Amino acid sequence: MRSITFCIAVLLCLRAAASDSSAICELQDVPGNSNDWIVLQEMSQGCWTNFTSLDGKEVHIFKLLSSRGRHSMIQFNVTAANPSVVIFTSSSAYSVLLHDNPAVDIYVTNGTVMTFFQPTGGRQQKNVAPFANSDSELLKWAAETFGGVTSFTTAQDPETITFTGMKGTQRPSMCDLRPEIPENKQFIKLKPKDPPSAELKSCYTKNSGEPIHVINIPDDVKIRHVYVRFSSESKVVLRGPADTMWTILGNHDIKLLTNNRVMLKDMLLPSKNTISDDPREIRQKVLFYYNSTSITSYSEIRMNMSHIQLWILDSTSSSVPAEVQPTTQAPSSSWVPPLNMQLFSSPDYRSPLDLSSKVQSDKRVYAEITTESFGDFSLNIKVTSCLVRSTPVVRNMPFKEEVCYTDGCPKRLRFSFEMLQDLPSSSWNLECAVKLCYDSVKFCTNETQVKSTLQVKPYIPNQNPCVQFGLSAVLGIAFGGFLIGVLLTGALWFIKIRTGHPVALGMRSTAAELSVLSISGCPCGVTKRQPVPTHPSPSENSSANASIGSTQSTPTSSMA
Ligand SMILES: *[C@@H]1O[C@H](CO)[C@@H](O)[C@H](O)[C@H]1NC(C)=O
Ligand SMILES: *[C@@H]1O[C@H](CO)[C@@H](O)[C@H](O)[C@H]1NC(C)=O
Ligand SMILES: *[C@@H]1O[C@H](CO)[C@@H](O)[C@H](O)[C@H]1NC(C)=O
Ligand SMILES: *[C@@H]1O[C@H](CO)[C@@H](O)[C@H](O)[C@H]1NC(C)=O
Ligand SMILES: *[C@@H]1O[C@H](CO)[C@@H](O)[C@H](O)[C@H]1NC(C)=O
Ligand SMILES: *[C@@H]1O[C@H](CO)[C@@H](O)[C@H](O)[C@H]1NC(C)=O
Repeated sequence: MRSITFCIAVLLCLRAAASDSSAICELQDVPGNSNDWIVLQEMSQGCWTNFTSLDGKEVHIFKLLSSRGRHSMIQFNVTAANPSVVIFTSSSAYSVLLHDNPAVDIYVTNGTVMTFFQPTGGRQQKNVAPFANSDSELLKWAAETFGGVTSFTTAQDPETITFTGMKGTQRPSMCDLRPEIPENKQFIKLKPKDPPSAELKSCYTKNSGEPIHVINIPDDVKIRHVYVRFSSESKVVLRGPADTMWTILGNHDIKLLTNNRVMLKDMLLPSKNTISDDPREIRQKVLFYYNSTSITSYSEIRMNMSHIQLWILDSTSSSVPAEVQPTTQAPSSSWVPPLNMQLFSSPDYRSPLDLSSKVQSDKRVYAEITTESFGDFSLNIKVTSCLVRSTPVVRNMPFKEEVCYTDGCPKRLRFSFEMLQDLPSSSWNLECAVKLCYDSVKFCTNETQVKSTLQVKPYIPNQNPCVQFGLSAVLGIAFGGFLIGVLLTGALWFIKIRTGHPVALGMRSTAAELSVLSISGCPCGVTKRQPVPTHPSPSENSSANASIGSTQSTPTSSMA
């Protein structure tokens, strides 16, 4: 530091000349929180050492903060990582697309909800670390369990976390948390989601004189500590809420006007001025203080983060890339199971099925399986199988999927409960085994069950019971009847030639058996339904009456 000129502004009661409504200049959003004259970076608690355990493992802790939604999705790529223990902690729920590496052991603190999506066929195990009330408690546990901690990273809304495989050298051996720029760690790459606009607004005016840069943190913003770096000699105005502290870093000559405390090297300078957050008042004070006619740049910061870092750049120098994230606190609500199955009575999926009323078994039921959105990731639901259960009966439930043309549209299925027609129970649990997949079927969760309960009542036929017969059923019955007729005729003829008995009675029973067959072969044709055993014994000595309703008992068995 060659010299620092720190001037204390003389407070003068300036007449409020509110005629200049355009204030300083027309503010515009700064995409990526970075442009030619200002770069804004979030700072969060973290640390980094060169620790490696005795068995050669690094120990990395990630604290994930989410500002949007109740759960988020991240990609976690450890394919290039050194052998490591990785511990996740978060108060919001995450789905993790894991690019795995068997040399990496993953831990999740008790209470952190994380679902790991794997390239199909991969492992999905994770270990549980104890619940930790604070970051220091978790650091302590990790240090005691693994012998030390290589890094602690607070990541706000990351989209991708990638291990580069680089090793830290010549670092302190204790991981003491301090504000840091997580992006500065070389062994991990954090790719944030696009920050929302309006965190940094700025404007720039060409002026002839010495540049004057004005930073304004409005009074309703949470920022309390700002580290400011300069790329050249500058005149600046740093204005913030009353208890803001600015730490000036670097060796350039700085002329400064501020209303807050300032840390210069190891020197804490108390606040001397008051400047409101109104641009018009700022403008007046700045122009008077610097005896200037214009302001070069004016920037407003609205980032909900206690620590930030600012770079104030010469507008001709190339900008420092910075990616800054929204900083709202992670919501603490717990993660609800992400899958839901709703039943509908019509194919337009508009009229939900009244689950307390009974569905006639010949009616179709339409099911929509939905999952909550995972931010920018669209997930597909893959239905592997469905079954119906009414203890002790379990039946596989065939289903048909409705066509879906876009990613992420709700999964829609059609069911028919005709197969339950003959079963005594009316209340059924419908369960489907589903997977959530990302990127078609590349990353899928393990199967989970999605369930619904419904009441089924048997179909009561109308006057024309077999009107709905398909061609194959008709052909099947016709052929069966023909076959049995042939067999019976043969049998009766055989009896006749062996015993000499007349055939009249036999022919009558043939007709009776045939009518039984055609009734029992007709799934909608029996007027009186009786509960029947689920597995009727084939050797049952069935009479014509008992065989009603059971296709398993055939006339030939009664002849035997
Ligand atoms: C994972 O990270 C490694 C190393 O950086 C990289 O080579 C690889 O392409 C990444 N994989 C994916 C799927 O992004
Ligand atoms: C997680 O915490 C709950 C209650 O806080 C406890 O019952 C459970 O045993 C813990 N699980 C593990 C694996 O530590
Ligand atoms: C870590 O760096 C320190 C210097 O700060 C050095 O003394 C120590 O040996 C290094 N440890 C490892 C494991 O490289
Ligand atoms: C303010 O600047 C003007 C020219 O820009 C100069 O004439 C004047 O002397 C300056 N006033 C002070 C107090 O420095
Ligand atoms: C800022 O963060 C605090 C918690 O740190 C939260 O209560 C508040 O709602 C946030 N404000 C905005 C505008 O996001
Ligand atoms: C997921 O499935 C795999 C293979 O079927 C199994 O080894 C693993 O334990 C399952 N994971 C969970 C969390 O159920």
